[in-house]
Amino acid sequence: MMKKISKHNAQVWDRIVAQGSGFAAKASTRVLSDPHKHINIYNWLPQGVHGRKVLCLAAGGGKHAPLYAAAGANVTVLDVSEAMLERDQEMARQHGFSIRCIHGCMTQMPLLQDAEFDLVMQPVSACYIQELDLLYQEVARVLKPGGLYIVQHKQPVSLQCGAFPKQGAYWVDHEARHKGPLPVVRGSEHREEGALEFLHPLEDLLGGLCRRSFVIEDVREPWHGKSTAPAGSFFHRSQSIPPYIAIKARRRMDSRIAFSPILAETLDV
Ligand SMILES: C[S@@+](CC[C@H](N)C(=O)[O-])C[C@H]1O[C@@H](n2cnc3c(N)ncnc32)[C@H](O)[C@@H]1O
Repeated sequence: MMKKISKHNAQVWDRIVAQGSGFAAKASTRVLSDPHKHINIYNWLPQGVHGRKVLCLAAGGGKHAPLYAAAGANVTVLDVSEAMLERDQEMARQHGFSIRCIHGCMTQMPLLQDAEFDLVMQPVSACYIQELDLLYQEVARVLKPGGLYIVQHKQPVSLQCGAFPKQGAYWVDHEARHKGPLPVVRGSEHREEGALEFLHPLEDLLGGLCRRSFVIEDVREPWHGKSTAPAGSFFHRSQSIPPYIAIKARRRMDSRIAFSPILAETLDV
């Protein structure tokens, strides 16, 4: 079942790239000239990533990996879509970056070593897998103790609600514990048409991290709302329902030893 889902979603993402989606937009030369500004949005990486080993997870598309490479990190990018990875390879050739590209699924990363990375960053993508805990387990395995996991997810309430307003409001269409792939939605900028998407409740998105020996250091709701936006648009819906949640979590130094913020400071990436 797992393999079938990732294979299906890989084909969908290959198609999304061919359609010229913004998710496959490469980092511009202007953005690459000041990478720290773009990777340190919430001041979660105050000391930068120079010389650090960074995994850009499910982050193909030619934006994230080149940004971290431009900031001086030693970058690996893993993605299930070969077309997305091709964007990173093109950027590496164009700008002379060394970026290791791995084609694979985020729930099983046998090519990556235990405790290999200082930082794992992951843009919105856990909605494309059914078993969130397998992902968290793998991220914990490949992160060094004290390493950071910066991840963004779709908010469960956003996945529960209808794409378009009815009688001026967005309605809850799906149960909080919806099981299996969510029904297909057409024309919504909050969902990827054709992709199999899964709703993970907060107790798994946040609590699942704690149960896999992470300490959550910060949580944000990236703001995309605009009161003047036309009804039904991405920005209009985002005014009522924040679409994403961004999490800064740190792998505990040792699952049996209590987390020490003083020690963590010295390891800050
Ligand atoms: C929303 S895009 C994120 C990357 C994008 N460049 C951006 O601008 O943020 C989601 C990514 O997750 C990848 N993906 C989906 N399912 C995956 C899986 N099971 N394992 C690894 N990557 C996966 C897709 O191929 C896609 O590149």
